[in-house]
Amino acid sequence: MSIIAPSLLAADFLNIGGEAKRFADCGAKTLHLDIMDGQFVPNMTFGWNLVSDIRPLLPGVTFDVHLMVKDPLVMIDPFCDAGADMITIHAESDSDISECLDAIERRGVRAGISIKPGTPVESVYRWLPWVSLVLVMTVEPGFGGQVLMQSCVDKIPLLRAEAERQGRQSLLISVDGGVNEENCADVAAAGANILVAGSAVFGQQDMTAAFRSLSDKVAPFNN
Ligand code: DX5
Ligand code: ZN
Repeated sequence: MSIIAPSLLAADFLNIGGEAKRFADCGAKTLHLDIMDGQFVPNMTFGWNLVSDIRPLLPGVTFDVHLMVKDPLVMIDPFCDAGADMITIHAESDSDISECLDAIERRGVRAGISIKPGTPVESVYRWLPWVSLVLVMTVEPGFGGQVLMQSCVDKIPLLRAEAERQGRQSLLISVDGGVNEENCADVAAAGANILVAGSAVFGQQDMTAAFRSLSDKVAPFNN
């Protein structure tokens, strides 16, 4: 399965209600929500209040929350209360990873772990039994509109092989950063199940056409 998950990061924040409607109209089923605290990454975005405001506008949509924050542990309950369906923490954050994964699990929310480009893929192998998803960053976290790093895509088959070895066939592998028309098929072919796209979807005039075009390109990998 390979799906496109538009990232709200590239949306027009002066018109967030209209952007939620554009999302609903494009047909996407997963909304990627990039949370940045200005400490873990040199940028700040939005918090659980905005997620809570958008939640009722998009019933049935999977809210995929990506915590690019120094201390994710303190944010897990507020984002669960706001309506997160998946919460992904960073392996490089200051919080205790097992405490975070337990806290997410206790709320009945799916847990994910993410690695930055400079973090070896082997560093998450020990967490595979406790996560539903691994998010492979293909850009340095902090900003949309960057160029995808092929060296990070090369982590995907290694991760997939390790997941198979551990009997975690259902592990979802997500890719985030620089996904576009030119590279999305290769990223899906490498084994990504969720392809996060900000600039290539929300950043486009015709978001529905952009979403459909990307989705058509990754559809052949929906095996
Ligand atoms: C980086 C962000 C971006 C965003 C996608 O911290 O996580 O990767 O989701 O942005 P684009 O698709 O514009 O690279
Ligand atoms: Zn993200």
